[in-house]
Amino acid sequence: MKEIIVSGMRSTGKLHLGHYLGVIQNWVQLQDKYDCYFFVADWHALTTKYDKTDDLRQNILDVVMDWLACGIDPKKSVIYVQSLIPEIAELNIYLGMITPQNWVERDPCLKDMAKILKTKEGQGQQINYGLMGYPVLMSADIMMFNANCVPVGSDQVAHIEITRDISRRFNNIYGEEFFHEAKPLLNNCSLICGLDGNKMGKSFNNDIKISDSAEVTAKKVMSAITDRSRLRKDDPGHPDECEVAFKYWTIFGEEEEIQTVKCECEKGLRGCAQCKRQLGEKINARLSEIRERRRYYEQNPQEVERIIEEGSAKARAKAQEILKEVRRLVKMY
Ligand code: TRP
Ligand code: SF4
Repeated sequence: MKEIIVSGMRSTGKLHLGHYLGVIQNWVQLQDKYDCYFFVADWHALTTKYDKTDDLRQNILDVVMDWLACGIDPKKSVIYVQSLIPEIAELNIYLGMITPQNWVERDPCLKDMAKILKTKEGQGQQINYGLMGYPVLMSADIMMFNANCVPVGSDQVAHIEITRDISRRFNNIYGEEFFHEAKPLLNNCSLICGLDGNKMGKSFNNDIKISDSAEVTAKKVMSAITDRSRLRKDDPGHPDECEVAFKYWTIFGEEEEIQTVKCECEKGLRGCAQCKRQLGEKINARLSEIRERRRYYEQNPQEVERIIEEGSAKARAKAQEILKEVRRLVKMY
């Protein structure tokens, strides 16, 4: 029997290259080795965006279309939407009862989120009860399928630690080694930064979307930061200080190409504009197949909806089996 993997993303809408390189690519690889459950965390999106739900449905579809385009395969993996599995909400209740208040209060991810909410972006939003429960709901997601492993970015590891604590506590209280202690699976790829050198993110307006056209991508790449000390194109450049463009080369180029770029840049034989034009082409070549597939799904949204419905039905059947055991262990009526 294969080990079980559960992982999700909030329904934030169209995904960017940070998602692709940092998470989705890894998921695609895992599909053959594990029983994978990949879901859109729409309830988690509500923890902060409960009053901005006009785009919720489209955002969910966009996330799933990006996954499918990148190679998440509904024949191999179960693809579903969190809120279509009400069993998760029930499990969340049981887990909430056994989670001490200070476990959620000291969650560093939550502290970061609280900080963001208080600043400009969150417009001084209050922390609601639902947000406090973020790591518990996440534990319900993971334990609903009794996952062995959870592939996530390093920013999510603290949450998974809480999940492990909750699993252990559940097993202790209800007297059976029922839940696995899910391990975080980190991938070792280096994080891609945004076009301005900061963390790539939708709200920072510095991202390249998986769904961007080749033209838009080329244009965005032209705006990437380079070696700031370089004034003229025949000045010797410093690839190591070329914070964005050269970093992208190291991600998207072949080893030989990277050496050529480095060498030519250092000798002042390569202008930044030309360099970025080439880089844009390189990135576009890498994304062309993905874009083609994405266009296909955009033109066939009913197919995406069918994939979500079928995946959610499969996930739900499995969730019902687990929940039955949980109710037995807790001794519910
Ligand atoms: N919190 C995750 C994020 O923001 C999304 C998520 C929700 C998740 N539930 C999960 C990830 C369960 C892995 C497993 O990216
Ligand atoms: Fe960066 Fe290329 Fe300009 Fe060198 S030539 S500074 S690698 S963009």
